Amino acid sequence: MEQILRNFFLFLSKNRFFTKLAKKYGLRFGAGRFVAGETIPNAVDTIQKLNKKGMAVTIDHLGEFIDSEKEAKEAAEGCIEAIRAIGKHHLDSQLSLKLTSMGLDISEELVLENMHKILEAAEEENVFVTIDMEDHARCDKTLELFKKLRSTHENIGTVLQAYLYRTAEDIDELNEYHPNLRLVKGAYKESPRVAFPDKKDVDENYKRIIKTHLLNGNYTAVATHDDQIIEFTKQLVDENNIPNDQFEFQMLYGIRVERQEELVNEGYKMRVYVPYGNDWYGYFMRRLAERPANVAFVLKGVAGK
Ligand code: FDA
Repeated sequence: MEQILRNFFLFLSKNRFFTKLAKKYGLRFGAGRFVAGETIPNAVDTIQKLNKKGMAVTIDHLGEFIDSEKEAKEAAEGCIEAIRAIGKHHLDSQLSLKLTSMGLDISEELVLENMHKILEAAEEENVFVTIDMEDHARCDKTLELFKKLRSTHENIGTVLQAYLYRTAEDIDELNEYHPNLRLVKGAYKESPRVAFPDKKDVDENYKRIIKTHLLNGNYTAVATHDDQIIEFTKQLVDENNIPNDQFEFQMLYGIRVERQEELVNEGYKMRVYVPYGNDWYGYFMRRLAERPANVAFVLKGVAGK
């Protein structure tokens, strides 16, 4: 049953009609539990609260699967606005974005133009930018663009997904850039031709890539809510004398909040991924797919409206 629900929410996450409808009608169905709000002031308020609790943030101006050059440019402007707010309010925050929102499916030229503008604003405000990883079909192109941008900008990192067979090779190939990488399990529906279908194999591969990247001396963000992976990382860094400033834990806003606080109290760097904006639908559906038990929130949300 859980697998059916998971596939159902992942299917819904790609629905462009619902995406547009959701933008029009605003945050609904309990999505506010996972999304900081629709505007920059909402996001600034949330970041300030998290910073006060000793947590760093990466802010995500929500957006994906846009259809026109105009929308891509607006999304880039939204990112720049977020970067300026980080600078203005002296927030401890990075920025995360998706290349599809920058025009990945339209043209490379458009993405590069948008990304250069964003990275230049980010340099001025001393903000680090992470390119989220989307579905497998866009992985090659995303890594190719990352390498191009990394050759001219220091303040950029990206994400690799443990569920993909290719990731162990990608980690080795990217090593020459000494990249700051966020490592995750992977959130999209992928075919067994390209991704481990079995959770046990994903977890094993996850541990393998965390170990490789850390032992290569690279900055590593371990982005998970899974205690088993967190404990593995703690032990690995202890055994190999890896300093606390070479890695961090990351979790999503609204998920395992107490665990986030515990990690801060234990002295680890904790970064919370804070999404905001009106394009909340796809992000929300993927969170429901990860944990169909959260559907209870949707039902409460529906009942409450
Ligand atoms: P797993 O799914 O095995 O969950 C472990 C435990 O965590 C569960 O048993 C449950 O207790 C708790 N949990 C997990 N999800 C929950 C939820 N939605 N609600 C409540 N509890 C939950 N993916 C991607 O493909 N590209 C990307 O760029 C990113 N970026 C990203 C940034 C950050 C900061 C995080 C934390 C995650 C991502 N992800 C991502 C998502 C990632 O790939 C993955 O889908 C989720 O993190 C869930 O996997 P876990 O590692 O948490 O383990």
